[in-house]
Amino acid sequence: MAISRYFSLVVFSIAMAASTAFSDPILTKVDRRIYLTSQIVRILSTLKVENPGPLIMSQVLLAFPEHQVRNLAYLMASSHETKGKAKGSVVALPIKAVNLNDRPSTVTFYSVSLPKELAADDSFTLDVLTIFTHALRPAPEQITQADAQLVLYNDSVYYLSPYEVKVQSLSVKLPDTKIESYTKLENIKVHGSDIKYGPYENLPPFSHSPIAFHFESNLPFAVAEELVREIEISHWGNVQVNEHYKLIHGGAKSKGEFSRLDFQARPNDQGASAFSLLVAHLPARAHSVYYRDLIGNISTSHLRGDSRKTELVIEPRYPMLGGWRTAFTIGYGLPLQDFLYESEGNRFLNITFSTPMIELVIDTLIVKVVLPEGSSDISAATPFPIKQWQETKISHLDIGGRPVVVLKKTNVVPEHNQYFQVFYKFNSLSMFREPLMLISGFIFFFAACIVYMRADTSISKYSASYLAKQQWEEVRVLIHKVQEIIGRCLTTHDNLEASLRELFRTGDVQACKAARKSADGSLKELSKEMKPLLTSLQAYSSAAQIFPKVEELVAKERELQEKLMQKHTTAVEGYEKKSGPRDINSRVALLQQKITALKQDVDDLLQIIDEI
Ligand SMILES: *[C@@H]1O[C@H](CO)[C@@H](O)[C@H](O)[C@H]1NC(C)=O
Ligand SMILES: *[C@@H]1O[C@H](CO)[C@@H](O)[C@H](O)[C@H]1NC(C)=O
Ligand SMILES: *[C@@H]1O[C@H](CO)[C@@H](O)[C@H](O)[C@H]1NC(C)=O
Repeated sequence: MAISRYFSLVVFSIAMAASTAFSDPILTKVDRRIYLTSQIVRILSTLKVENPGPLIMSQVLLAFPEHQVRNLAYLMASSHETKGKAKGSVVALPIKAVNLNDRPSTVTFYSVSLPKELAADDSFTLDVLTIFTHALRPAPEQITQADAQLVLYNDSVYYLSPYEVKVQSLSVKLPDTKIESYTKLENIKVHGSDIKYGPYENLPPFSHSPIAFHFESNLPFAVAEELVREIEISHWGNVQVNEHYKLIHGGAKSKGEFSRLDFQARPNDQGASAFSLLVAHLPARAHSVYYRDLIGNISTSHLRGDSRKTELVIEPRYPMLGGWRTAFTIGYGLPLQDFLYESEGNRFLNITFSTPMIELVIDTLIVKVVLPEGSSDISAATPFPIKQWQETKISHLDIGGRPVVVLKKTNVVPEHNQYFQVFYKFNSLSMFREPLMLISGFIFFFAACIVYMRADTSISKYSASYLAKQQWEEVRVLIHKVQEIIGRCLTTHDNLEASLRELFRTGDVQACKAARKSADGSLKELSKEMKPLLTSLQAYSSAAQIFPKVEELVAKERELQEKLMQKHTTAVEGYEKKSGPRDINSRVALLQQKITALKQDVDDLLQIIDEI
């Protein structure tokens, strides 16, 4: 085993720092999953921390090598117990960067505060999500229009831990089975696009052994080098959002000539890594949506919507190839009462921080919230630390200008798209300051009535309609999770079917049985995950209509599972008894018919549920 321990100096200094009041934990189990399925690298680690005593313990250190820290965009730790619960109920544990010594070191540490102190021999399991941008390096760096994009990722097969690790394993999920190369070590299993390493036992602190993956990744590498979002509040009923994008294709640079003809005629093998569409999920009641670039309005954008979201699909004037840039603006209006609340005489805006575009990396994001003239006592609350300051914006109707809260953050990923708040005080008389409104008190009164009627009572966060909306939101989160689990079941079914095809191709009965065992295992896990979701869902009165459909979906999937298993057993038995393929086919023909019908049913139900 190639374990290098070149961090021994650091180990020593941690021991010194930690020995003052607390014990050093050991990690009894570490499971790490690396998702390389898009341009954003997500790593989910589950750590079981044990306090060997004799002192109490309240902190756990996380360590990152220098080259990873540069690209670290998001770090969150939570109790493993809340996993699988609704999104909102996961509470992030406090994390802070720590400087363990004055010497420059190759490792950066963060310290996680545990929710309660651990006595000797107690243990606690936490999930740590780390997200990296620009961590996939195109290799080669330049490709022609006809080439697929290959990227490189490297890491250590061992979890970088300042503590001893008893048992650990790693799984790496690649976007596709098109894998150029990967590091082969002992205890490795490759299954389609999944590579599993481990378990490895009894690793000393800072064990390290490099692994690298070279694979095809054609998902859009859409990077906003800069995005300026301007959110302007008008107390007359509107929140106007304008977003100015400077976008680049951050993947392998395109070389040679670009032929649009080839690109359009054979989109699958021409410019496979290019992207010609971008998708944004706008809030449900977005209106007056526009999309324009330097030349003018672009009409090739489509708006699809239902009661819960508005989907905007935009098409730049030319397809984006590696290294190409474009700049454009999208804008939309939002109803004020969905985002502005009042509490104890103060007003606050509660709105999402980042872009509505999906899987976009933002190098620099600037959010400007433009408040009405006359606002005072302004402050902003963000869920993560951020640089902020205030400016003034003057427009033609204003006397003193409007206060602007500016927030700036670098290295932004979709996980940062959380709600933030801007609080301010506003004296309604200030509205008279706008000269137009001074013309007539009557007009003001009239307009105020309109605003009041449009806002009904929903300016208060606790109104009935707000609560109903909130509940519906929770139901949707649950349903979304159900869909996700069913999706994973269907993938498992596909793998099972694929294992049969492999069997007849290669004759490897052992591999086929292993695939069956793994499918059995994952389906059992998924069914365990599904149960609490159904129980929660049933408890919502607003889910009464959809619940029977969800139940039916789960039942149909279960039946489909059973039939697939029967088919698998029959086929493998037939194969082992040396029956010919035709013979086996006729034996499973009836099952196959049922399977096809059930698949259709599951698809239909998914469709119905998706349309709520
Ligand atoms: C690979 O590892 C080295 C350090 O060992 C680092 O400098 C480099 O940026 C890493 N990343 C990629 C994608 O090659
Ligand atoms: C572009 O669209 C906006 C919003 O729909 C509209 O106000 C503007 O007049 C349009 N400009 C041109 C040049 O068509
Ligand atoms: C902001 O709105 C979101 C979604 O409606 C809600 O979950 C959150 O609690 C709100 N935050 C505040 C401080 O009201």
